[in-house]
Amino acid sequence: SLESNTLIVVLGASGDLAKKKTFPALFGLYNNGFLPKGIRVVGYARTKMDEEEYHKRVQQYIKAPIPAMKEKLQEFLKICTYVSGQYDEDDSFQTLEKALGEIESQYEDKNSPKNRVFYMALPPSVFTTVAAHLRKNNYSEGGINRIIVEKPFGSDLASSRKMQEELKAEWKEDEIFRIDHYLGKEMVKNLLVLRFANVMLDASFNKSLISNVQITFKEPFGTEGRGGYFDEFGIIRDVMQNHLLQVLSILTMERPVSFSSEDIRDEKVKVLRYIPPISKDEVLLGQYVGAETKDGKKPGYLEDDTVPKDSICPTFAAAVMHINSPRWEGVPFILKAGKALNEQKTEIRIQYKDVTQGIFAEITRNELVIRVQPGEAVYLKMNSKAPGLSMRTVPTEMDLTYKRRFSDLKIPEAYEALILDAFKGDHSNFVRDDELDIAWKIFTPLLHHIDEQKPKPEPYSYGSRGPVGLDDFTAKHGGYKRSEK
Ligand code: BG6
Repeated sequence: SLESNTLIVVLGASGDLAKKKTFPALFGLYNNGFLPKGIRVVGYARTKMDEEEYHKRVQQYIKAPIPAMKEKLQEFLKICTYVSGQYDEDDSFQTLEKALGEIESQYEDKNSPKNRVFYMALPPSVFTTVAAHLRKNNYSEGGINRIIVEKPFGSDLASSRKMQEELKAEWKEDEIFRIDHYLGKEMVKNLLVLRFANVMLDASFNKSLISNVQITFKEPFGTEGRGGYFDEFGIIRDVMQNHLLQVLSILTMERPVSFSSEDIRDEKVKVLRYIPPISKDEVLLGQYVGAETKDGKKPGYLEDDTVPKDSICPTFAAAVMHINSPRWEGVPFILKAGKALNEQKTEIRIQYKDVTQGIFAEITRNELVIRVQPGEAVYLKMNSKAPGLSMRTVPTEMDLTYKRRFSDLKIPEAYEALILDAFKGDHSNFVRDDELDIAWKIFTPLLHHIDEQKPKPEPYSYGSRGPVGLDDFTAKHGGYKRSEK
């Protein structure tokens, strides 16, 4: 763990990611006293600006609603400095090095090694170049060096491999922290506990009892402002190949030998290796079109100025995955992800098989729902006798809704949890190189098919539940009829 003599450099400090996630998370950790003692935060980007202008910007990135936080924010700004430079010139990284050296010369403890964390909030085009420059110019000999990187990690198996090879030519695997921010979400972290610390859940997680599993990601907004980026990737690369597949792997892996990061990741890789590439016949693609919604008229995907007018980029996808392991063979896993839908929601819905009807006139299936966001919850749909003299049954729920159960609920932001893990050197919630590789193997044939054959996505209205064919698609591939709480 990095206790002191540590600085973090945020590369791409004026970009979108740094603004929305990195700085707010760093401040959140700082505010709660979780960052290493005496930490300094150095921003680096191409934009030229002086310290005052930079502080003004950082301040805008961060919400500090109460006076105590406002005070802390002023304190935080004092540890933030900025260096501007290019992403492809040694000279710039030498300038950065000088600035880092100056900061380090002020450390109280002069004798201990100096640690550096590099957070790459950068576009993929400059990513490996910067990683190489950092290794060459800014590596702290004798200290601990870590590099935090963010997706997109390539756009298919070959480009991902190339990127990882370039990265690994400079950095050791244990120095690399590949973020998939879904792994930092509270409910995703809870999956390990729910499964392996509850004998009845663990025992029921198999093909004998489970009919199908649906993992759903919905967002109520389109690509507004991000069309340029999005159109190159599409919803499968943006959300499904990474976030949803990560959730699937933790949900379905075998019990790890220990909770060490390597043991956990070994099991994730193992279950992913049981998954064959997704078949093009088990996919439904959609693209949203403009519609009148309760919040007024919303534009379609193709009306976004940054999107080519003939784009076939899917903004919605449903895909069926199979895990050919003894535990899961035959159970369809239906992943669904879409933008510009009717609500925001990420959830895992585990539908159990039919219960023997026997003497009961009317009973429903058990369903375990794990709500990742918003409103973290776990609930199990079950049958109960209606209280009273009759033997009538009613569908009920065993309901663990976090905000009712945990009175002082404070769920950390995913990025806070992950940055803290990176400082601690805990890789459990970061993606290992072989894990990334296998994730791309599962999706690459389908993605190439879409890139080459350009199947036309089904249109769906902004603010709707998705393409009209969705319910039929789900039913056809083994999901039960929709029954949402
Ligand atoms: C990002 C995607 O990785 O995840 C975005 O690029 C998406 O398109 C986002 O909106 C969703 O994250 P969250 O934490 O808001 O569910």
